[in-house]
Amino acid sequence: MSGGHCPPDICVRDHMAKSTPKPTPPPTDAARLPPEVRFADELAALAAADAHARPPGWRLSPQAVRTFVLGSDEKGIGQGGVVVRRKFYGDDALVERCIVTLMGNRGLMLVGEPGTAKSMLSELLAAAVCGSSTHTIQGTAGTTEDQIKYSWNYALLLAEGPTPRALVPSPLYKGLQRGDIVRFEEVTRCPPEIQDTLISILSDKVLHVPELGDGAGAVLLARKGFNVIATANLRDRGVHEMSSALKRRFNFETVHPIADRDFELQLVMDQTAALLGEAEATADVGRDVVALLVTTFNDLRTGRTAEGTVVERPSTVMSTAEAVAVAFAAALDARYFGDGTVTAEHVVRQLRGTVLKDNPDDAKKVRQYFDVVVKGRAATDAGWKSLYDARRLLQG
Ligand SMILES: Nc1ncnc2c1ncn2[C@@H]1O[C@H](COP(=O)(O)OP(=O)(O)OP(=O)(O)O)[C@@H](O)[C@H]1O
Ligand SMILES: [Mg+2]
Repeated sequence: MSGGHCPPDICVRDHMAKSTPKPTPPPTDAARLPPEVRFADELAALAAADAHARPPGWRLSPQAVRTFVLGSDEKGIGQGGVVVRRKFYGDDALVERCIVTLMGNRGLMLVGEPGTAKSMLSELLAAAVCGSSTHTIQGTAGTTEDQIKYSWNYALLLAEGPTPRALVPSPLYKGLQRGDIVRFEEVTRCPPEIQDTLISILSDKVLHVPELGDGAGAVLLARKGFNVIATANLRDRGVHEMSSALKRRFNFETVHPIADRDFELQLVMDQTAALLGEAEATADVGRDVVALLVTTFNDLRTGRTAEGTVVERPSTVMSTAEAVAVAFAAALDARYFGDGTVTAEHVVRQLRGTVLKDNPDDAKKVRQYFDVVVKGRAATDAGWKSLYDARRLLQG
């Protein structure tokens, strides 16, 4: 809708956009940069070389968004040949379905076990589609409707009453206003009646501000490109409490743990190297040591080894994200307290903090895994023997 055609009370977007200060660029020493900053070179190369049609309000075509998430070939993109790295491993068709959902009228709901990269995927999609992954609402038991929609600057509210100037926009408000993707993390941790705030926004693409009466800013119409990506963790409060009215406004996609061990191994190697780079540390992280870690995690997560032995699954999360955390911590341990080469000992030392958390039964299950599976493999394999020899470090 162009500015010239809308009645004065709903011509709010341009007015608000002008009064919204430009976001300040992140500091160069930020502990973690959002993907649109981290991969700015890739996004720029993809935009420059993008010959496909872009959906209204999108910065890239759906094909280029796919390449951003799943990577390019080795020749790279455009004349400069910028190679786009693969960021999400596993289910390429899932990524395509997510992109299609974002072009349509429904929101995208990513559900799955913890640590399956739901948040990461939502950030990557938001960064590629609208160039910003930071319009984020974190769902908690204490999330209020104001935090989802808008609140007020009380000093201005007292001084001049409810005016557009006194309104404090939420990330969702900003996403509507700019035609951006809004991320709603852990939506199912909010009480269902708070979740339901999203229903009218998702179906009508409009946010009403009744306090502004009939004046400017009373009705905020979403710009094209606006959509919501929500994530929900199946281990906490699941999606069963979500109202069916809200469920209908989302397309659900389940993100599964990576099933292919080689893929998972590659991912853990790549991400450990990237994290070490960000931490400005170097360590020799051997593929064989990481393979021990990934196989151990895979066996304990699935409850079954490649040889067909059934093992007891710990109650704690044994996701790829945790495997990356263990590998990175082991590398830092080796770098600062060893000779810089990661060994099975470093891995076992870090396993304690990740796997053996609050449940004493988990410690028993892991020790049993060592006594049966690791010991068996140690008889014929030096790598597994070094892991078995380090088992004493599992004791509290
Ligand atoms: N398929 C995958 N592709 C790429 N990275 C993955 C994949 N699965 C897990 N990871 C790892 O998981 C990390 C991100 O996990 P993230 O926090 O996004 O998970 P999550 O599903 O949102 O977890 P939670 O439910 O606890 O919020 C990534 O940085 C990466 O190390
Ligand atoms: Mg998450």
